[in-house]
Amino acid sequence: MGWLLILCLQFFLCTHVRSSSSHFLCRLDDSSSLLQFKASFNIDTTDTNCGKLAYAEVSTWQNGTDCCSWLGVCYLCNGLQGMIHPNSTLFHLSHLQTLNLAHNRLFPTQLSSQFGAFVNLTHLDLSDTKIQGEVSSYISHLSKLVSLDLSMNDDLKWIQEVTLKRLLQNATSLTELVFDHTNMSFIAPSSFFSFLNLSSLVAISLKGIGLSGNMMSNENTLCLPKLQELYMSANFDLRGQLPKLSCSISLTVLDISQCQFQGSILQFFSNLTQLTFLSLSGNNVGGELPPSWLTSLKQLTLMDFSGNKLIGRIPDVFGGLTKLKTLNFKNNCLEGQIPSSLFHLTSLSYLDCSSNKLEGYLPNKITVLSNLTALWLNNNTLKGTIPSWSLSLPYLVDLDLSNNQFTGHISTAISSHSLEYMFLCNNMLQGNIPESLFNLVNLTNLCLSSNNLSGFVNFKLFSKFQNLESLSLSQNSQLSVNFESDSDYLLSV
Ligand SMILES: *[C@@H]1O[C@H](CO)[C@@H](O)[C@H](O)[C@H]1NC(C)=O
Ligand SMILES: *[C@@H]1O[C@H](CO)[C@@H](O)[C@H](O)[C@H]1NC(C)=O
Ligand SMILES: *[C@@H]1O[C@H](CO)[C@@H](O)[C@H](O)[C@H]1NC(C)=O
Ligand SMILES: *[C@@H]1O[C@H](CO)[C@@H](O)[C@H](O)[C@H]1NC(C)=O
Ligand SMILES: *[C@@H]1O[C@H](CO)[C@@H](O)[C@H](O)[C@H]1NC(C)=O
Ligand SMILES: *[C@@H]1O[C@H](CO)[C@@H](O)[C@H](O)[C@H]1NC(C)=O
Ligand SMILES: *[C@@H]1O[C@H](CO)[C@@H](O)[C@H](O)[C@H]1NC(C)=O
Ligand SMILES: *[C@@H]1O[C@H](CO)[C@@H](O)[C@H](O)[C@H]1NC(C)=O
Ligand SMILES: *[C@@H]1O[C@H](CO)[C@@H](O)[C@H](O)[C@H]1NC(C)=O
Ligand SMILES: *[C@@H]1O[C@H](CO)[C@@H](O)[C@H](O)[C@H]1NC(C)=O
Ligand SMILES: *[C@@H]1O[C@H](CO)[C@@H](O)[C@H](O)[C@H]1NC(C)=O
Repeated sequence: MGWLLILCLQFFLCTHVRSSSSHFLCRLDDSSSLLQFKASFNIDTTDTNCGKLAYAEVSTWQNGTDCCSWLGVCYLCNGLQGMIHPNSTLFHLSHLQTLNLAHNRLFPTQLSSQFGAFVNLTHLDLSDTKIQGEVSSYISHLSKLVSLDLSMNDDLKWIQEVTLKRLLQNATSLTELVFDHTNMSFIAPSSFFSFLNLSSLVAISLKGIGLSGNMMSNENTLCLPKLQELYMSANFDLRGQLPKLSCSISLTVLDISQCQFQGSILQFFSNLTQLTFLSLSGNNVGGELPPSWLTSLKQLTLMDFSGNKLIGRIPDVFGGLTKLKTLNFKNNCLEGQIPSSLFHLTSLSYLDCSSNKLEGYLPNKITVLSNLTALWLNNNTLKGTIPSWSLSLPYLVDLDLSNNQFTGHISTAISSHSLEYMFLCNNMLQGNIPESLFNLVNLTNLCLSSNNLSGFVNFKLFSKFQNLESLSLSQNSQLSVNFESDSDYLLSV
């Protein structure tokens, strides 16, 4: 059986050794531990490119040469297998500063007490290694950790809350903590966040770790003054009010999507002026959108409130959010007109206001949405004619205006040639299907059904759409498709 281990060693040896001796770059016992470690695994060179690369690199590990000249094998590959036994000579390298084994299949390696011997470790990355079993309580000896990534290890178990607590309290320099897709359901979220409170963490990633229950008791705030990125999505049973992060004024990313947070959007958000990414999608957040804080989030590139219970009007305050690329209000209970400032966002690429109770007219003329690739306004009660700008945006790929009350003709000046998905069904459109529509050669899905369109269309025209996947023209009582160009055989579709 060919199996392979790859590790990231280049950093510790050379930085450590260079500072301690100008003559001997590599310590003899390091060379010897590495050579024994090398001897303890095989590399399958026939398998992948990765195997060949690993072989080439590990071949430079030769006794009698300076181990600082050995190629530091540090790369990301999948599908490699092996086990680090507790007696591995790897654990002799106690002065290791960086250990990165990410994406190697170390099954059935355990996060054993031996890992606690790397007391000078600053960076430990065991993500996606299939490392398993109970996290040893000795992990709390890693007091110099700056970055810890244990993500994507389903079978790793924290049995004792106190182990996590000791680790987080002992590793006072920890700036980055990544636990995504590990099972942390053993711990009450309120305990977990109280361990993190007042720490020096800059980035925390806790996606899909099975937290359930209230995030913290209502009167508590979470104070993480250095925090820049917080990812907590897909903790489907995490409840309570939106976390109050008043201390985290440097926050740039806040992703708390797909949890069960409720309550309304809190005023403290207006202090998070550095936010570039804000997603609250898929929670139970209600109340109105507070205009005051929207105007202070001038750095935002993504704002996603989809799938919540927001009510009231969308405030007309988007003028200053000139960096916004993605704006999503889908699936809420927002009402009133779509504010005109939304149509003046110069950078906007994706706009989704579908499935709300929005009403009124779209503006007739706009000049600045030129980068828009997706416009989803379906399932509202918008009325009036479909403005011709929406069919002449140069980069538009997805257009869905279905399930509204649009009337009038489809503009004959269709020039969004990049369109692939065009849904205008379930409106009250009338008149002919304009010929310019058949120039949209990249259309894959076209829905014009349930309108009041009329006239004859030669079926051959549809063959211009080479990638067509779905076509719906039904329930337009006066629309006929001519299947044979030179006969009068007509079929109403
Ligand atoms: C490396 O070479 C030295 C001296 O030649 C020898 O004593 C030692 O056993 C060798 N180590 C390994 C792992 O081969
Ligand atoms: C480690 O232990 C295993 C199983 O007990 C044994 O097969 C292996 O030779 C040992 N390796 C070293 C380097 O001692
Ligand atoms: C850890 O680092 C300290 C300070 O650089 C050093 O004195 C100590 O020997 C190192 N410990 C190990 C096990 O290498
Ligand atoms: C904290 O780390 C130091 C240094 O490794 C260690 O001696 C001590 O036991 C650790 N404390 C806890 C509570 O684990
Ligand atoms: C997580 O671990 C708990 C036991 O601590 C177990 O009951 C649960 O099924 C695990 N969840 C997943 C998704 O594996
Ligand atoms: C965090 O610390 C502050 C200040 O000590 C305290 O007021 C707050 O309640 C703590 N929050 C949590 C979640 O423990
Ligand atoms: C926002 O920051 C200001 C000054 O830094 C502070 O006085 C105010 O209490 C903060 N507001 C909230 C809601 O945290
Ligand atoms: C439009 O998109 C292009 C390419 O992504 C980008 O270079 C340009 O800056 C964008 N325009 C605006 C106004 O954001
Ligand atoms: C339309 O929006 C309403 C909420 O406004 C929602 O309940 C319904 O499921 C949506 N229908 C479709 C087809 O998306
Ligand atoms: C149609 O799609 C092709 C392939 O994706 C692309 O190269 C081409 O630019 C598209 N045409 C238009 C008009 O956008
Ligand atoms: C459909 O259009 C025809 C004219 O083409 C018009 O007479 C009729 O009233 C329209 N029906 C509806 C329901 O709008």
